[in-house]
Amino acid sequence: MSRPNIDWPTLGFDYLRTDLRYLSHWRGGAWDGGTLTGDNTLHISEASSALHYGQQCFEGLKAYRCRDGSVNLFRPDRNAARMHRSSARLLMPPVPTETFIDACRQVVRANLGYLPPYGTGGALYLRPFLIGVGHNVRVASAPEFLFSVFCFPVGPYFKGGLTPTNFVVSRYDRAAPNGTGAAKVGGNYAASLLPGQEARGQGFADGIYLDPETHTKIEEVGSANFFGITRDGKVVTPRSPSILPGVTRDSLMYLARERLGLEVEERDVYVDRLGDFAEAGACGTAAVITPIGGVQHGETFHVFHSETEVGPVTRRLYDELTGIQFGDVEAPEGWTVKVE
Ligand code: PLP
Ligand code: COI
Repeated sequence: MSRPNIDWPTLGFDYLRTDLRYLSHWRGGAWDGGTLTGDNTLHISEASSALHYGQQCFEGLKAYRCRDGSVNLFRPDRNAARMHRSSARLLMPPVPTETFIDACRQVVRANLGYLPPYGTGGALYLRPFLIGVGHNVRVASAPEFLFSVFCFPVGPYFKGGLTPTNFVVSRYDRAAPNGTGAAKVGGNYAASLLPGQEARGQGFADGIYLDPETHTKIEEVGSANFFGITRDGKVVTPRSPSILPGVTRDSLMYLARERLGLEVEERDVYVDRLGDFAEAGACGTAAVITPIGGVQHGETFHVFHSETEVGPVTRRLYDELTGIQFGDVEAPEGWTVKVE
């Protein structure tokens, strides 16, 4: 097992080549048995539909090292289920849930030396992906597919972790009405590259997207979901068919309701009503919970009450969520899957 020399507490979110990744090929109507490989490059046809027509989808989940040394995956069945929906939307064969979870476990076990130690705040990020390959230049589904899972150790996606960060409302859309916004497919992220770069160029962490139909309602951040805490303590998250249904968002709604006794509302969030919220945040696997300090919208810069310090409700949600992920707080039934 590799013993990489990594300064765990300063880890950000960057690719690092780890020892082994999982690779499986779909040909002639079936998946092969899958294998672990040390090769971190793919050899695919130049006519692969993943390259030309964006026939691909991916997932993101993490493995966590607990205080007692054990290793957990967090709700991998939810990622497997979302990949089913993404692959169905793009005419790709489903990766069976057992195969998905087994591949994740194999990859974590094969790269244990890269798992950030308990207490450093880091985790091992897993990136499963499914792509259309083989010779095909028509705008039609590929003849073959690859499913792979690789991993790398990560710290916070947005610099600063729990320090409130500013976001800007984007003038672009990332997804269309009745498009692929709810699927985790590369095309949505391709659409967000330029807006993301513009946002960072203006000194913001990322863009916030509005609904593509009326441009009046908050949808999500380019790499995470949005939530707000009303002045009377309700947890609110946007309802929309074009946002990615995040596992973290779903988990926070459940924990807010069932563990913290808070009211939860999934509803329209009008961008001109940000004043209703005392706290706001971005939540996702990579982002974990990133508090939002302020939002630039046109000429207006809206500042939340908890501008410089994480707000009290966001803090409680963060502690409950990460406590479960790192095994310090009892998990709801079926949420954690032991790897080791
Ligand atoms: N929205 C977008 C666009 C994302 O990329 C992500 C990250 O996966 C999320 C939301 C949050 O999803 P999850 O909590 O499942 O990571
Ligand atoms: C994740 O949180 O897993 C994501 O996929 C976000 C990513 C675009 C970095």
